[in-house]
Amino acid sequence: MNPLPSHIAIIMDGNGRWAGQRDLPREAGHRQGAQTAEAMVEACHERGISYLTLYAFSDENWERPVEEVIALMQLLDEFVISKRDKMKKKGIRFRTIGDISRLPDFVLDSINQTISETADGNKLTLTLALSYGSRAEICRAIERCQKAGIQRITPEAIDAHLDTAGYPDPDLLIRTSGEHRISNYLLWQLAYTELYFTNTMWPEFSEADLDLAIDDYRKRDRRYGRVS
Ligand code: FPP
Repeated sequence: MNPLPSHIAIIMDGNGRWAGQRDLPREAGHRQGAQTAEAMVEACHERGISYLTLYAFSDENWERPVEEVIALMQLLDEFVISKRDKMKKKGIRFRTIGDISRLPDFVLDSINQTISETADGNKLTLTLALSYGSRAEICRAIERCQKAGIQRITPEAIDAHLDTAGYPDPDLLIRTSGEHRISNYLLWQLAYTELYFTNTMWPEFSEADLDLAIDDYRKRDRRYGRVS
């Protein structure tokens, strides 16, 4: 059996479909999805997972209808403000990856305050991927290497200049809602990650579902291209 994953990454998919199946507006799905996100943060914290990285808003999500983008920004703002004290108390360090300079100022301010107030957290690092696209992140890393005067671009140099610099690669990637895609998420970091797909829509994803994913992961034979 593998030990518990130290880094879990999640593509939280299916909010819109979950809402549609109930004749609710898409925003209601995102709101329920934010509650699932909170429950998963607590569950990972309780299980001793060190890193949880959630895909909350992609580069491509800027193309959604403006009302939906505004609703997501408001939800994010509420999330980082209302969970700040709880995160501090539990030793959860809050971070983001992605080009957050594109976010509206009010969200950016709330995010930056939560990042600085939780910086000492040493139990769980909760990272939201926001305005995130992995190809853009890899380009940023190469530009940072060039700016730092690095002559030879090596995997280690790129690793050290990604938005996730200093994080271990994810051990387990979970994607909900029955889609079997990576969707420009952590392409570099997922090189040897175990992938887990479930048909459950994100708003309905439960602690029991998380445990099923972790149990499945623990039985996998991780060979990293070698023989067992
Ligand atoms: C994918 O579902 C989900 C998103 C694009 C946004 C994820 C956001 C949340 C879970 C809420 C905010 C999160 C936090 C942590 C505050 P979709 O809309 O693509 O669903 P669909 O594929 O069924 O349409």
